[in-house]
Amino acid sequence: MPELCNISFPGSDFASITLECHKNLSEHLTINNSPVLFGCRTGICGTCLVEIIGDIPPSQPDEQEMLETLAPNNPHARLACQINVTGNVEIRKI
Ligand code: FES
Repeated sequence: MPELCNISFPGSDFASITLECHKNLSEHLTINNSPVLFGCRTGICGTCLVEIIGDIPPSQPDEQEMLETLAPNNPHARLACQINVTGNVEIRKI
């Protein structure tokens, strides 16, 4: 059995979802199951900016550069399209 990770969206009407760990988050969030909106899905447009609480790998330099521009004072800010889900996470809109 693959390890499963729970994705929850506190403060929204969207239900939690469960997916296999170590997958890219944006591949599993659709317009029907996600409060997160996506644009480019490649880390350059900033549409998917969210706050994420949970045990996930730190941002890579390209994502870090975007975050310093979009949300410089928020240590939990991430680009949802760049997230590799490695544990349970809570996602909030910014
Ligand atoms: S969808 Fe464009 S940066 Fe994530």
